Amino acid sequence: MQKITIAIDGHSSCGKSTLAKDLARELNYVYVDSGAMYRAVTYYAIQNGLISNGDLDQIALINALNDLNITFQKSADAVHPEVFLNGQNVESKIRGLEVSNYVSTVAAIQEVREFLVEQQRQMGENGGVVMDGRDIGSVVFPNAELKIFLTADTDIRAERRFKELTGKGEDVDLQAIKENLIKRDHLDTTRKESPLKQTEDAVVIDNTHLSKAEQLLLLKQLVADRSVTI
Ligand code: DC
Repeated sequence: MQKITIAIDGHSSCGKSTLAKDLARELNYVYVDSGAMYRAVTYYAIQNGLISNGDLDQIALINALNDLNITFQKSADAVHPEVFLNGQNVESKIRGLEVSNYVSTVAAIQEVREFLVEQQRQMGENGGVVMDGRDIGSVVFPNAELKIFLTADTDIRAERRFKELTGKGEDVDLQAIKENLIKRDHLDTTRKESPLKQTEDAVVIDNTHLSKAEQLLLLKQLVADRSVTI
């Protein structure tokens, strides 16, 4: 079957990454978690003192962008590729609430987006890629053969995220997670630069009542349909 480009966009914490990773593994495609790239930039800003008292020094971050080398590598014992920042595996560090609280602010900066979108296009230039994010079908790969817009009920999303973080041993509060999700959805959909929006040609999947296996099956059918029609 011909290898296609698959764009998966949607709200925060509705399982885009899990679905995209599983799909890429089954199809033997490259998986790119574009959100992890925005998170890695945010982690860099925190680590380098560019955020103080809740304020981000945007100019300093923009000036530092060329010092950031973000790559995805699969460690021998990992099932999926993990994100590396300047050679350091930051996969677990970028998932905490501190990075989550600032990432939408960082992702709203035009220069940050231009810097990352260029790298994302390079990663997918040969096709055979599954990339998830907010602007993949609208900006990064507007010609993607398959575009998915994933969504789910807010309470369900907060509960899933809560389970994921507590499962990793983090001490988190369900209500704080829900508030963070609502805030991020608002920032992601209303920002000036590449807001999250459903493109007309996207297939909408609400996975509130779908299991991971059901979603994956649905996606594989869509991929099979698209791959034979191109
Ligand atoms: O998918 P995620 O929750 O890991 O993404 C983290 C943040 O990055 C999210 O608040 C929106 C932003 N993001 C974005 O603006 N564009 C993308 N392509 C991916 C993520």
